Amino acid sequence: MKKIVASNFKATHTRKSTKEFIDDVNGYLKESEISNDVFIFPAATALDSFEVNENLTIGAQNAYPTKSGSFTGEIGTIHLDEFGIKTILIGHSERRHILGESQKEIVIKYNYFKAMGYKIIYCFGEPLEVKNCGMTETLGYIWEQFDGIDLNYDNLILAYEPVWAIGTGISATSEDIAIIHKKIKKKINKPLLYGGSVKVCTLQDILEVPNVDGVLVGTASWDVDDFKKMIYIASKMDKDSKKLTCNTEE
Ligand code: 13P
Repeated sequence: MKKIVASNFKATHTRKSTKEFIDDVNGYLKESEISNDVFIFPAATALDSFEVNENLTIGAQNAYPTKSGSFTGEIGTIHLDEFGIKTILIGHSERRHILGESQKEIVIKYNYFKAMGYKIIYCFGEPLEVKNCGMTETLGYIWEQFDGIDLNYDNLILAYEPVWAIGTGISATSEDIAIIHKKIKKKINKPLLYGGSVKVCTLQDILEVPNVDGVLVGTASWDVDDFKKMIYIASKMDKDSKKLTCNTEE
């Protein structure tokens, strides 16, 4: 399976810079003939009807489980339908821990978007205090984040994003990732991404970890040249696994 590369813009990039970014990435995919699946999740205000290659998908970072209605500050599926968006992130740790989304609310959201046939990138991962308690606690915490989630859903991609690694510059080690991904893959046969301080220089090592099907990147993907380098590295890994340098100018 070709490695997946996804960029979560979070609350960065304006409508204008999002369009420039997407056009740039799209042009790169076209000219390089790279066929890996690439995802970009812009801010809600920057969503639009982008004309993109088949392997480039624009998704929503979040939406309320409704078509439309009285939900101040939220968007519903009419807003996504306007732009043909059929892909969504659910369960991101920033929504769980900063915005206070409970597992119950996440399940409602998941079931709603599943019923609408969306591609769901379902995020989960443990905070530092849980990691520090050991592997049994970490896995117990992770399984709880699957409570109520239909893991047989066809259009599902999973993303393991340890909370302590997100936006901290401290990625999980290859060993950490290998252990968790193996345990998850044993139970759930779905594409499984890793996210948390992935950088251009660490990407290849992470993609080489068994059971890592791709990456979901925040901070290091917001520079379009770096994101294109990541796509390049991922595409080369499918062909040969020789060590690439960080300066992937070829
Ligand atoms: P960073 O790459 O900034 O750690 O963010 C990862 C993430 O949350 C992707 O969804």
